[in-house]
Amino acid sequence: MSLYRKLLLRLYPYKTIQDDYITRMQGSMGGAGMLHDGNIFAMDYVIRNLPETGAILEIGSFAGLSTNVIAWLLRKHNRNNPFFGCDPWVYNGYYDESRKDDATYMAYFEGCQHIEREAYTAFIRESFIRNTLFFSNDYRPHTLQLTSDAFFEAWEQKQTQTDVFGRTAVLGGPLSFVYVDGDHSYEVARRDVVHSLEHLLPGGFLLLDDSADFWRYGSVQLAREMKRWKGLELVMKNPNYLFRKREA
Ligand SMILES: C[S@@+](CC[C@H](N)C(=O)[O-])C[C@H]1O[C@@H](n2cnc3c(N)ncnc32)[C@H](O)[C@@H]1O
Repeated sequence: MSLYRKLLLRLYPYKTIQDDYITRMQGSMGGAGMLHDGNIFAMDYVIRNLPETGAILEIGSFAGLSTNVIAWLLRKHNRNNPFFGCDPWVYNGYYDESRKDDATYMAYFEGCQHIEREAYTAFIRESFIRNTLFFSNDYRPHTLQLTSDAFFEAWEQKQTQTDVFGRTAVLGGPLSFVYVDGDHSYEVARRDVVHSLEHLLPGGFLLLDDSADFWRYGSVQLAREMKRWKGLELVMKNPNYLFRKREA
């Protein structure tokens, strides 16, 4: 562990769970760096305290690590709430903001010309499908290739759609848990939270990824604001923020 990580851990300690299945699964698929151990602790807490009814929604699925962790925790804790997800499978390179006028950089994965960006996103989407079919076949979410905005619109309209596994998904209804891990800009993350809260049941949970106090994403500013929102209770900072919608 680097000195910087050791220092962060000392300044912002967090709790983890020991789960051999998750440890092995993490090593078997892409995206390990994208799922903080502390989120797994928070998800475990959520699933153990999940409202009886209401669907789970994951915003931002990438290659399926968090999807399969949630699916495993549902299995482990004997819960069968319906599970949905959305991801348009877009790739944000590290330097997109500063190099957006550089067509070569933007056409390739991190500007490296042996991998086209489009091929990379197709690879991640295929990995999601493969990982989820393998690890969580019977707990698979209805994941749609949509942005969160488009997903919520479809949810609102109770549309029937086809998920990335080719199954029919009937959308709409209350939510019990939303994992917000899509676009981390302040504007989009805020819309995701507002839309989620419209559907979240009292007692339902919202975990906002990349909201830990030491990050610099828009979701950090958002989490700090949310601490003051009346209808929400902060359940834990581990180090990302987990909120619960207050009972009326
Ligand atoms: C950090 S990754 C998600 C990691 C995943 N939750 C995990 O832990 O394994 C972020 C994902 O959000 C997706 N994304 C970007 N913009 C989005 C949007 N507007 N709505 C939904 N997902 C979005 C990206 O395509 C990417 O796959």
